[in-house]
Amino acid sequence: MKIAVVGATGLVGTKMLQVLAERNFPVTELLLVASEKSVGKEITFKGKAYKVISVEDAIKQKADIALFSAGGSTSLEQAPLFAAAGTTVIDNSSAWRMDPTKKLVVPEVNADVLTPEDKIIANPNCSTIQMVVALKPLHDKYKIKRVVVSTYQSVTGTGVKAVDQLMNERNGIDGPMAYPYKIDLNVLPHIDVFTENGYTKEEMKMVKETNKIMGDDSIRVTATTVRIPVMGGHSESVNIEFANDFDLAEVRELLAKSPGIIVTDDVANLKYPMPLDAHDKDEVFVGRIRRDESQANTLNCWIVSDNLRKGAATNAVQIAEYLVANHLVGQAVLSE
Ligand SMILES: NC(=O)c1ccc[n+]([C@@H]2O[C@H](COP(=O)([O-])OP(=O)(O)OC[C@H]3O[C@@H](n4cnc5c(N)ncnc54)[C@H](OP(=O)(O)O)[C@@H]3O)[C@@H](O)[C@H]2O)c1
Repeated sequence: MKIAVVGATGLVGTKMLQVLAERNFPVTELLLVASEKSVGKEITFKGKAYKVISVEDAIKQKADIALFSAGGSTSLEQAPLFAAAGTTVIDNSSAWRMDPTKKLVVPEVNADVLTPEDKIIANPNCSTIQMVVALKPLHDKYKIKRVVVSTYQSVTGTGVKAVDQLMNERNGIDGPMAYPYKIDLNVLPHIDVFTENGYTKEEMKMVKETNKIMGDDSIRVTATTVRIPVMGGHSESVNIEFANDFDLAEVRELLAKSPGIIVTDDVANLKYPMPLDAHDKDEVFVGRIRRDESQANTLNCWIVSDNLRKGAATNAVQIAEYLVANHLVGQAVLSE
């Protein structure tokens, strides 16, 4: 596969390269793409140095797959040009997620919706990905009626600028701000921009994307998304109301045997998921599984995952792996 990584110098792009290498994705040619300011810069992949090229040069080279993580406006502009050149785009930005003509995919949940005609595929929001991986097996068994989620999100979710802000603050350096306020020793109940209904865009992404990925608009979701001064991953406190009653031991067993999930739930030995442990892992960690004693058929749990991996790079590479395994991709696939 000829693979382009668009946004190769960014946090997600760097992680994509790491994941492609680790999973031994069949890369035969690699195109590394970033903004004009990075053209010519060298990046190493599997011990070989590559020069960063421009978007225009990359389009001409007709890659089989382009993994995009270069922001929404770049994606809106450039993804259709890659697609027109026969390249299948897997996009990490929010640009295409709610477009009814584009698939929004978490492989453990809905990879079966993909067809060879899908030339722009959207990777969901990081906090939504880790939540739906855990919701899917529970929905299949007990039918979810409503989800109430509060997130505790890593600064890595905002990109290089935010990691720099946190580190500068820790080291007493005055630098550019990624957030409107100090993030070190602070908590910001604000991710992405505020919308007219008083929620943030991140919160509304969790609502709408969950319904689209799960293929079920009857699931009611409400979210509060919060930025905390943490690096390793996003954490979520999730309250789930089901139509049917459940057994706690069965819930643990169901989650433990579902793909991509590790249950870490042994409070007697102080075992629960934490971002420090999830960091650089591909799985979604679920713990603090307990009954909501204030209401029937309702469960509380705590979900943690590395937002740069399962929340972005790993999920995108897993989509690419699914496309390859099912012969849904390649410059020749539509003419076969
Ligand atoms: N961080 C996360 O957890 C996460 C999770 C899911 C999705 N995402 C999404 O992934 C995207 C990238 O996030 P990030 O955290 O990796 O951001 P980042 O660290 O700021 O990196 C942005 C990347 O985009 C490139 N870029 C910017 N403008 C470009 C242009 N006009 N043409 C080509 N490349 C351009 C940058 O290149 P230069 O270095 O040359 O500027 C850089 O490689 C965003 O859309 C974000 O919403 C992020």
